[in-house]
Amino acid sequence: MKDKLKDLQKRREVALQGGGEARIKKQHEKGKLTARERIHFLLDEGSFEEIGMFVKHRSHDFGMEKQRIPGDGVITGYGTIDGRLVYVYSQDFTVFGGSLSETHAEKICKIMDLAVQNGAPVIGLNDSGGARIQEGVNSLGGYAEIFYRNVQTSGVVPQLSVIMGPCAGGAVYSPAMTDFIMMVEHTSYMFVTGPNVVKTVTNEEVTSEELGGAFTHASKSGVSQLTASNDLEALQKMRKLLSYLPQNWREEPPALPYEPDEEWRDALSDIIPPGAHQPYDMKDIIRELVDADSFFEIHENFAENIVVGFARLAGRSIGVVGNQPMILAGVLDVNASRKAARFVRFCDAFNIPLLVLEDVPGFLPGTDQEWNGIISNGAKLLYAFSEATVPRVTLITRKAYGGAYDVMNSKHIRADMNFAWPTAEIAVMGARGASEIIFRKEIKEAPDPQAKLAEKEAEYAEKFAHPYRAAERGFIDEVIEPRETRRKLIKAFDMLRHKKVQAPLKKHGNIPL
Ligand code: HXC
Repeated sequence: MKDKLKDLQKRREVALQGGGEARIKKQHEKGKLTARERIHFLLDEGSFEEIGMFVKHRSHDFGMEKQRIPGDGVITGYGTIDGRLVYVYSQDFTVFGGSLSETHAEKICKIMDLAVQNGAPVIGLNDSGGARIQEGVNSLGGYAEIFYRNVQTSGVVPQLSVIMGPCAGGAVYSPAMTDFIMMVEHTSYMFVTGPNVVKTVTNEEVTSEELGGAFTHASKSGVSQLTASNDLEALQKMRKLLSYLPQNWREEPPALPYEPDEEWRDALSDIIPPGAHQPYDMKDIIRELVDADSFFEIHENFAENIVVGFARLAGRSIGVVGNQPMILAGVLDVNASRKAARFVRFCDAFNIPLLVLEDVPGFLPGTDQEWNGIISNGAKLLYAFSEATVPRVTLITRKAYGGAYDVMNSKHIRADMNFAWPTAEIAVMGARGASEIIFRKEIKEAPDPQAKLAEKEAEYAEKFAHPYRAAERGFIDEVIEPRETRRKLIKAFDMLRHKKVQAPLKKHGNIPL
C-alpha cells in the first residue's frame, strides 16, 4: 500500500507541474497566472475538487505519443463561490499552448454535463492556441461537442467565460454562445482569423490587440460584456457577477438580508435638469434607487446610450435597463437595441426581475442605421421585452416618444407596473417636431411664423408633454414623486414576487436575429 500511495503522490506531483517550470515562468512573465492559480483565486479557499487529473491524449501522430502530459492542457472540476456550487475548466497554456485535443474537449464536456444535471453554473477560463493542430478532425469534433453542449446548456444554467489569453479560430464560438464574456486587458484576444490571415486576404495591417483585444471587443464589436485589467481582477469580478445570479433556471437569485427603512431619496428630485434637452446621467438615478454600491454594470463601454446591469433592491437581484440621456440623448440605435435585448433575455431566462428607466427621444434616424438594420435590431428589443415573463416595472423619468415608448417595456407589451415622474412626456414626438409637421401650413401662412410655431408648440406641449393623458388611460399606473420612487419600486417588486405567466404552447418563437 505504501508504495502505491507513493506512486499516486508522484503522479499527482507530475500533473501539478503542467508543462513544466520554464513554461510556468514564461506564463508569469507575461503577467498571467497559471491555470491552477486562476482556479485558486476564483473559488472559495480549499473548495476545488479536480476531475480527470490523469487524462492523457490518444494521439500518435507527429511524435505526440512521446509527449503525454497528465491533464492534457485543461484542469476541470468543481468547487464553490460564496458557498455555492460551480463547475470550472481552466485551460493550461503551458501544455501544448492550452490547445484543444479530443480528450481535452471530453474533460470540458464532462463537467458541462454534470453542471446541467446538477443545476450549477459553468465557468470557463480560456487560454488556448485553439484546435490541437496535431490531431486534425478529432480536435474539431471535440470543439463541436462543446458547441453543441453550449446550446443545450443555454438557459439551463448560467455559462460564463473569461478570456485570459489567446482565443482564435473556432475557439471563439464556445465563449460566444455563453451568457457573458469577460476579457483581460492586454493579455487576451479573440478573433476568427488572426492578423496574418487578415493581411493575406484583405491586405489590412492590424495588430492582435486592435483586431481582437479587450478594448476592441468591449467598445467596438460588443462581443465581450466585461473587462478586467488583470487576471486577479477578472476572477474577483466573476465572483461578484455570480452573486446576482441563480444557480439555474428553476431557482431564484440569492437574496441578501435587508433591513427596511423609510426609503425616501430626496436627491432624486434634483437630477432631472430644467431644460427638456439638457442631459443628465441615468446612472445617478440608478445609484440612488438601488441598494448602496450594488449596481454592477454590464457592457459599460458598448452602446453607451443605453445602460444595463445588475443591482439589488431591498437585497434582491434585479436587472436594470436605462436610456442614457448623456450619450446621443439616450436614443435607441442598432447597438443599443442589441445590447439591451440580450440582457433582457438573460434576465428573463434566469428569473431576474427587470426595472426599466425610460428617457428616450425615439430611434436614431439615418442611412447608417437603416442600412444596418435598425428595423430588425430594434425589433429584437421589442421582442425581448414582449416575451419576458419575469416581473417588469417601468419608470418614465422624462421623454417617452414614439415607437420607443412602446418598446421600452410599455404597459401594452405587458409590463406589470408603469410609473412616471411628473417630468414625464409621453407623445409621438417632441412638441416642436410635432408642431412643425401638423401645423406646417398654418405656421407658413402666419404673419410671424416663429411666433406661430412657439404658440403651437406650447399648445402641443400642454396636451401631451406630461404623463397625465397616459395615466388617464391606465397606461401609467401611478405618477409618483422622485423621492418616493425607491419605496414604490420595492413594494411593486415585492407584490410581483410570485408572478406566473403561461406563454402560448409552441416549439420556440422566432426572434428577428
Ligand atoms: C498545438 C500548439 C497550438 C496548437 C500553440 N501550441 N498552439 N500546439 N496546437 N493549436 C504550442 C506551441 O507549439 C508551443 O509549444 C506552445 O504551444 C506555446 O506556443 P507559442 O507559439 O510558443 O506561444 P506564443 O508565442 O505565446 O503564441 C501563442 C499563439 C500561437 C498565438 C496561440 O501559438 C499560435 O498562433 N498558435 C496557433 C493558433 C492556431 O492557428 N490555432 C488553430 C486555430 S483554428 P512548445 O512546445 O514550443 O512550448 C481552430 C479551429 C477550431 O482552432 C475550429 C472549431 C470550429
